Amino acid sequence: MADDAKLDPQDWQEIRAQGQRMLSDMFDYLEHIRERPVWQPIPQEVRDSFHETLPREAGDLAAVHQTFMQDILPFAIGNAHPGFMGWVHGGGTAVGMLAEMLAAGLNANLGGRDQIPVAVERQVLEWVRDLMGFPETAGGLFVTGTSMANLIGVLVARTAALGKAVRHEGLAASRLTAYTSSGAHGCIAQAMNVSGIGSDALRLIPMNEHFQMDVAALEAAIVADRERGFHPFLIVGVAGSVDVGAIDDLAALNCIARREGLWFHVDGAYGALAMLAPEIAPRLVGLANADSIAFDFHKWGQVPYDAGFIVVRDGMLQQDTFASPAAYLRRDTRGMAAGSPWPCDFGPDLSRGFRALKTWFTIKVYGAEQLGRMIVKTCALARYLKQCVENEPLLELLAPVSLNIVCFRYRSPDADRVNAAIVVALQESGIAAPSTTIINGQLAIRAAIVNHRTATCDIDALVRATIAFGQAEAS
Ligand SMILES: Cc1ncc(COP(=O)(O)O)c(C=O)c1O
Repeated sequence: MADDAKLDPQDWQEIRAQGQRMLSDMFDYLEHIRERPVWQPIPQEVRDSFHETLPREAGDLAAVHQTFMQDILPFAIGNAHPGFMGWVHGGGTAVGMLAEMLAAGLNANLGGRDQIPVAVERQVLEWVRDLMGFPETAGGLFVTGTSMANLIGVLVARTAALGKAVRHEGLAASRLTAYTSSGAHGCIAQAMNVSGIGSDALRLIPMNEHFQMDVAALEAAIVADRERGFHPFLIVGVAGSVDVGAIDDLAALNCIARREGLWFHVDGAYGALAMLAPEIAPRLVGLANADSIAFDFHKWGQVPYDAGFIVVRDGMLQQDTFASPAAYLRRDTRGMAAGSPWPCDFGPDLSRGFRALKTWFTIKVYGAEQLGRMIVKTCALARYLKQCVENEPLLELLAPVSLNIVCFRYRSPDADRVNAAIVVALQESGIAAPSTTIINGQLAIRAAIVNHRTATCDIDALVRATIAFGQAEAS
């Protein structure tokens, strides 16, 4: 056999030293992240450098690492930075980073089979069941993110409505309809689309003044659909809406779902983990009665990307939705093929990475209480920002602050243009990185305080720079 076909290092001492340098660089990055810009525009030559032809010859690890440090690391989106407040991105931790390295070293495939990495995932599922108030019979799974978790929720709800036969018979003329708030994330419509039910069958129910789904409008929509021969099957409640952080009246939605015989799924992408915070958890009353919950450990849980999760009250139904016997996936009571059911029986993926390890490390090292305190702190920072906005005549608040998201803007007769320009200027300055959204037809600067590193000085910097850029833009 040719020696040059081997992929292991020729010199383990050399790669060990190189690995220590790489690790050390990442610790430096995290330790001194505050000294960097949150984000910076990407030079054209750096973009161009990622169009090279397929490397044919072996390269040098140290040189590739050098390229990473020079051309990749400085031009990431910056969500590890305390000034990052755009969209809903977690900040990650050094602990999560180390765990991810261990997982990569182990290279476990968590589709199934008899191995302790699967037991680690089941351990996290047990914690999730406890946290969310779900029974022992609940099924659950790590997935990429809440978009995938919501899709699984819709698919299990589809099985609940039409029976297991839907998997081979398809939807035929089932006329299923689902209901969610008009403030719901676009991935719910995407899940309806991908599931074959179609996004036209998703009724977007208007919101009340608290940006929660209007419960009376929901009831009326279900009645109207039944009268027109549709088959209502699913209500999707939102725990922490993407625009403003609103929490639907989950208890009321659950009551309607039970009365009407509908599946009750909750998109708790980031909000569901507020169950870790005793001060906030009471606002999630009704969550424990859901049929399924989708959420992410990579948002408020600060686990490095990606670590989405789906938990389904009726684990058997989840299995009925996905399990697909195959000769090459035969189960046994002994040997490596033991341990059935396997994770691949609860979702669409067969090859699955060890997302559970970085989550298990995060929860073991920080503990639920510290994670809860961190979540409470981000909400306190959002209230601090709200206060700064209310105290500043040049700024105005555009939505109530329910959790950790603040939507505000610089006052101007040409506010949409000026505020869009302010956000770009903020991002390009590297001082702070909020994103934008539309609230009641008006463009808002949207600051989502998700990162555990964010402090009052970052909020002050955001407010100061918003005013400075606003004054410059309006003059
Ligand atoms: C409320 C809500 N639902 C769903 C999602 C999608 O989650 P993911 O990006 O993990 O797929 C998000 C993302 O921010 C969200 O805020």
